[in-house]
Amino acid sequence: MAESMKGLKRSHRCAEVTKADIGSTVTLMGWVQKSRNKGGIVFVDLRDRSGIMQVIFENGEIDQEVFEKAGKLRSEFVVAVVGRVEARSGAVNPNLPTGEIEVRARELRILSEAQTPPFPIEENSKTREEVRLKYRYLDLRRPDLQKNMILRSRVSTLVRQFLANEGFLEIETPTLIKSTPEGARDYLVPSRVHPGSFYALPQSPQIFKQLLMCSGYDRYFQLARCYRDEDLRADRQPEFTQIDMELSFVDVDDVIDVNERMLAFLFKEVLNVEVPLPIQRMTWQEAMDRFGSDKPDIRFGMELTDVSEVVKDCEFAVFKGALENGGSVRGINAKGQGAMPRKKIDKLVEFAKGYGAKGLAYIAIGQDGTVKSSFAKFMKEEEMTALIQAMKGENGDLLLFAADKTKLVWDVLGALRLELAKQMELLDKNEFKFVWITEFPLLEWSEEENRFAAMHHPFTMPMEEDLQYLDSDPGRVRAKAYDIVLNGNEIGGGSVRIFQDDIQEKMFEVLGFTKEEAYNRFGFLLDAFKYGVPPHAGLAYGLDRLVMLMAKEDSIRDVIAFPKVKDASCLMSEAPDVVDPKQLEELGIAVVEKKEQETEEKKDM
Ligand code: AMO
Ligand code: AMP
Repeated sequence: MAESMKGLKRSHRCAEVTKADIGSTVTLMGWVQKSRNKGGIVFVDLRDRSGIMQVIFENGEIDQEVFEKAGKLRSEFVVAVVGRVEARSGAVNPNLPTGEIEVRARELRILSEAQTPPFPIEENSKTREEVRLKYRYLDLRRPDLQKNMILRSRVSTLVRQFLANEGFLEIETPTLIKSTPEGARDYLVPSRVHPGSFYALPQSPQIFKQLLMCSGYDRYFQLARCYRDEDLRADRQPEFTQIDMELSFVDVDDVIDVNERMLAFLFKEVLNVEVPLPIQRMTWQEAMDRFGSDKPDIRFGMELTDVSEVVKDCEFAVFKGALENGGSVRGINAKGQGAMPRKKIDKLVEFAKGYGAKGLAYIAIGQDGTVKSSFAKFMKEEEMTALIQAMKGENGDLLLFAADKTKLVWDVLGALRLELAKQMELLDKNEFKFVWITEFPLLEWSEEENRFAAMHHPFTMPMEEDLQYLDSDPGRVRAKAYDIVLNGNEIGGGSVRIFQDDIQEKMFEVLGFTKEEAYNRFGFLLDAFKYGVPPHAGLAYGLDRLVMLMAKEDSIRDVIAFPKVKDASCLMSEAPDVVDPKQLEELGIAVVEKKEQETEEKKDM
């Protein structure tokens, strides 16, 4: 039976009581972590979001009724306790911040009882994630998740504080909108009032923040919910949060400046980590050439080497064929991995194939200098020597090569480099290496659609010196776009925007929109630009990704209170779900039965 807390007022959170409070009376409320009945004395670990306090009930010292009640306590009961803070009578617990004190209780109320939870509420849970997600409200009681939520809240608060100090205004933009083009599929919301018409949930506030610049707000920010119907991964959720900003009368350097100061501020305040400024900048081309990725993890080396020149005259068909097809041959040197067993190398080959490679050629150099290689038989001895030299191969090294279209070679070796770094334990979560990636290509060729698509979005400004190629050679035009990358994760991205009608029109043309189509979709933005538009630029972070890295977690699910799993469902509430036929009728929607699709495994989240 639940008791009332009438007449009691919580005085402290459990772990906010300190040695300085010894001798005073406190009122604590929280959950029973565990209780042990040692005959004449009951020990209770009381937990709330701050941590744990040991509470003791001693027979003879307190009312018999209170002592008996204490004996009935079970894990996760919610209780109120009144007692005196004392130095620990028993062994001090060095693992607890409150390990030197305890509360000698004289009053106890059981505010609510609890069933045995489906898994223990403890740090570093061994329980499967599906189970924890089904009971997310219990999972969220665990100290590791509480730590993450508190950290996330702190980051949001500090972001607001920093940006407000820098003259940014926090302005909300709508979430029932006309679709904005950010490359992913939209989530649609049917309109009841306009049957057959749909709102889209925003993939980002992009167009609205640009309109706010037209309206003169100068510096805007928002912690914005964004929705994208795309394939999910550990760093992607269908709904996520951006720290979104836009600035007027600025260029690339201004955006970068305010943002790197914000990052330095956050890391100092939250983690006491110094971020040396300025943050390193690297062009997209350099990032691809050196790391095979536009979000390079620069905590370790193992950079790519282009050996096309070195092998251009060899007879190895794989290398020759790739070069003849306009591709390249590149390699990485896994230092000290020359003794890797054949089976493990075969696994790397399979891994590479997963990224579209047709194979992976290797040279393993023994400690004694002997060479094992999958393609030596096709090469002259001096060609092998030159290749090893180009790769700076030394005794004990493993050299891995991919030959194909350059983009594929980058993908394969970029991924392989990360995989090897994991295997070789080169990645330290306590190290934070930032890099700005700049000068992205403006456009990306889409094989599927047989046309160019915007690499960032259609409002991104080309670099002035490349404007001349917009007609003749659109693929070579670079953009005033930048990403901020942390330890191999794209934590944010943005660009300087087009604010000239003629360039915007040309951009739509290159993207294959007719004037009419462009007007249909973005007419209100194009119109707004006719009434005086300031030059503007902006950026958005994935807040979830940023917090994930600050919390040293591997998945953004660990920093989102109620995340979704890979098939975009919520295991707790079971959303999405069918709705009442009456609701559909009101909306004028008929559902077409699809053939029973095999439900995707939820294991691989
Ligand atoms: P972009 O599409 O690069 O740019 O998104 C900005 C940042 O948002 C994060 N992000 C995601 N996080 C979790 N789940 C997702 N599905 C997801 N998708 C993106 C990434 C990314 O860097 N409007 C532009 C910004 C601008 O130009 O100002 C935009 O949305 O960390
Ligand atoms: P093969 O002659 O096809 O047996 O290939 C010889 C070696 O080259 C094997 O180790 C293959 O894995 C490797 N290989 C095949 N295709 C490629 C490629 N596109 N890039 C790099 N290595 C490859």
